[in-house]
This record gives sequence, structure tokens and C-alpha cells, in this order.
Amino acid sequence: MEQSIDWAALKQQARLASLQAYAPYSRFPVGVAILAASGQIYTGCNVENASYGGTTCAERNAIAAAVVAGERQFLALLVYTPQPRLTPPCGICRQVIAEFFTPDAPIASCNHVDALQQWSLGELLPAAFTPTYLAESAKQD
Ligand code: THU
Repeated sequence: MEQSIDWAALKQQARLASLQAYAPYSRFPVGVAILAASGQIYTGCNVENASYGGTTCAERNAIAAAVVAGERQFLALLVYTPQPRLTPPCGICRQVIAEFFTPDAPIASCNHVDALQQWSLGELLPAAFTPTYLAESAKQD
């Protein structure tokens, strides 16, 4: 069940994070804000690399920032891109989000003009491979 989420606060933080994006190759800045169960908001931006493959997305950088602060549970994630089309998280990020967010967690996207578009994590990554599979495998030993 969705708790009340201050999307305006998340949007403000995600927009500020997008201003820090290091995206000289794609010129596609992304900012993400995530709400932890503690009530704290954490942010990330994309950090590109000359190797291209070394690039990390804003979503994964936001989650890493939260984890290093001691967080493990999250309630909502918002992506901000100053692009006409609202951007959903990429496939790799969906997998990383599934490590820490429940399938009913709202994952949303916004830009500088439009209203939020919102999905549940389960819609974005159905039949996800999650840590529970590993726990069940260990039980068979
Ligand atoms: N990117 C993100 O940071 N998050 C997304 O949800 C989509 C893609 C980044 C990766 C790369 O720096 C740039 O956007 C273009 O793919």
C-alpha cells in the first residue's frame, strides 16, 4: 500500500541532482531522488566515463549513497530528466532497485514541465530475480 509521498520534495531534490550530472558524452543529464523508510531523501546523478561502459546511472548512484548512509529499505524513487519524454529507469537499474524496494513501491518519472508518470516496481520488472531466491537455495544445503 502506498504511503503518502511528498513527490514535490522528491522532484525538487531530483532536479537539483540532475544539475550535477556528469554527462559529457550523452548530454543526457539525469537526477534521481529516493525516499528511505527512515524519511530521509537521497539523491544521485549519472556519472559517465570515457570508456562508456564505466558509466553509472543516477538511480544506482542514489541507492549507493543511501546504502553507505546505512539505509536498506526504500519507499519511492523519482527520476528527473529535462527531456520532453519522461524517462523510466533502465533495465540494469530496475534490477538494482528490486534489491531494496518492494514490488508495490512507486517508481516515477518527471521532467521540467509534465506531471509525474508513475509505475509500480512490479510493473517495470515483473518476475524479478530477488535475494529470496538465494535464501531458498541456501536452505537446501
Ligand atoms: N541514465 C540514467 O542515469 N538513468 C536512466 O534512467 C536512463 C539512463 C543515464 C546513463 C547515461 O549517462 C545517460 O543517461 C544516457 O543513457
